[in-house]
Amino acid sequence: MRAAAITEFGGPENIQIMDLPRPLLGPDIIVVRAVAAGVNPADWKIREGRMAKRYPHYFPLVLGWDVAGVVEEVGPAVTSFRPGDEICAYARKFCIGHGTYAEYVAVVEESAAPAPTSIDLVTAAAMPLASLTAAQAIYSLEVISGETVLVHGGAGGVGSFSVQLLVDMGVTVLATGSPENAEYLRSLGAVPIDRMGDIVRQVQAVASEGVDAVMDLAGGPDAVQTSVPLMKDGARVCSILQTPDLGEEGENRGLKARYVFVRPYGAQLGDLIAKVDAGSLGVPLHGTFPLEQAAQAHRTLQAGGVRGKIVLTIGE
Ligand SMILES: NC(=O)c1ccc[n+]([C@@H]2O[C@H](COP(=O)([O-])OP(=O)(O)OC[C@H]3O[C@@H](n4cnc5c(N)ncnc54)[C@H](OP(=O)(O)O)[C@@H]3O)[C@@H](O)[C@H]2O)c1
Repeated sequence: MRAAAITEFGGPENIQIMDLPRPLLGPDIIVVRAVAAGVNPADWKIREGRMAKRYPHYFPLVLGWDVAGVVEEVGPAVTSFRPGDEICAYARKFCIGHGTYAEYVAVVEESAAPAPTSIDLVTAAAMPLASLTAAQAIYSLEVISGETVLVHGGAGGVGSFSVQLLVDMGVTVLATGSPENAEYLRSLGAVPIDRMGDIVRQVQAVASEGVDAVMDLAGGPDAVQTSVPLMKDGARVCSILQTPDLGEEGENRGLKARYVFVRPYGAQLGDLIAKVDAGSLGVPLHGTFPLEQAAQAHRTLQAGGVRGKIVLTIGE
């Protein structure tokens, strides 16, 4: 089968189109004929070797964690899917290497969900990892209707889903982004905050009593430090980048912080897909590249300025 893989860590030029054996079936596994694979920042971080010390990697290493496609074969213990079903999945496994930038992908049954019916499989491939991260980060914050949440990095893949999910819950959302993304953030339902400008002053102008929660989806340590004086006493912060450091002030004021690492969860993905099919959640597709141009897709994502998601097209 065709796959985009690396034989050593390095830049986008290391991605090669290779002819590799199809993945094997296991008892709880569905083998999917991939129509498209979502591209996530984790893919280029893996390509560069940034996760090499933390998790087992196998070479040649097929990149990719998101897939949408058609079930080709199911293992004997699989009960939820049959050959011919259209599915999508955040298909991260216990080791890195048997990824989704390939014509055939092995997916653990519990990671998969029936594909949305209102959008095509190419668009569906943009959903799994980013939408699940958004949902799990929001869940970790115990956000409720009527609260005000500051989202750092609202225009990216995870940010676009987070803003929409929060707005749909009845939350007031302030979202940082580059000035070019202000209109986009407004279209998602957020109050745009120019991340190049004075964030504190802009947020205080809208939320003079402070915010109830903060999501750090892209801003880095500075975003968390900047947010501390903007938070109400007892407010919550989560980061998908690192464990947030709220310093002494955070401790004194009872601020709560946590790091979220997204878990594959087919049932939760199914709930998000139901929102897409009901029209309350949009899937922000920035653009597509054929599998053969996976390196260019990585360059585009790493260059920044992407609104929402990039997807690789693989098969019919
Ligand atoms: N822990 C987890 O489970 C998990 C899951 C998913 C992603 N992640 C990580 O989270 C990050 C975001 O993921 P993603 O998929 O949303 O990436 P993405 O699609 O590349 O979006 C990142 C966005 O961040 C914005 N940005 C960059 N620097 C910023 C800053 N200093 N302040 C505010 N916004 C900034 C950019 O928008 P503007 O041009 O508008 O600034 C960009 O659109 C990545 O580092 C990724 O690896 C972690």
